[in-house]
Amino acid sequence: MTNDLKYILVSEEKLDEITSTIAKQICNDYRNSEKKLVLICILKGSLMFTSALMKKIDLPLEIEFMKVSSYGSESKSSGIINIHLDIKREDLSDANFIIIEDIIDSGNTLSHLVKYLSERGANSVRTCTLLDKPSRRVVSFTPDYCGMEIPDEFVVGFGLDFNEKYRNLPYVGVLKPSVYGG
Ligand code: IMP
Ligand code: MG
Repeated sequence: MTNDLKYILVSEEKLDEITSTIAKQICNDYRNSEKKLVLICILKGSLMFTSALMKKIDLPLEIEFMKVSSYGSESKSSGIINIHLDIKREDLSDANFIIIEDIIDSGNTLSHLVKYLSERGANSVRTCTLLDKPSRRVVSFTPDYCGMEIPDEFVVGFGLDFNEKYRNLPYVGVLKPSVYGG
């Protein structure tokens, strides 16, 4: 599998550092909140990031899962989001939500999700991403917590996939363009 990588972009050590830093920020920001804290793991890519992060957040919290797909994220600014798995809670007004993403590209997924959860009455909605490719934005979007900004390269590992492969790599690597026909 590692033969398919051009180079390792974010090592296991760096990932550990990133999750520690973000967990500390979240602890500071939510320590005095009276509402409950709910992390929403966006499947499947955020699985590893969410589990690494939640272990380091020393506050009571709950987790939820959502699965979404975006269409036309590259060329359409209106990029539609399809929700395949939603949170079952009726009342969102009793919680502060943090959406946990693996990577932000066009910005469509997270901007739609923030709007969706806010409209459902969430007390607050923030976003947390492991990686961000700001140069790829189609819609303006800035995450509240960000592990690392990266250049416009296709990355895999630590949950991120190409055609469902490479999610189990313990680090993030840049995929060789020859693998995806680039
Ligand atoms: P967007 O911000 O709505 O365009 O979507 C971000 C989603 O695109 C992420 O959750 C990933 O599923 C996918 N994605 C974008 N860039 C990469 C990458 O470099 N590797 C793997 N998945 C990516
Ligand atoms: Mg994803």
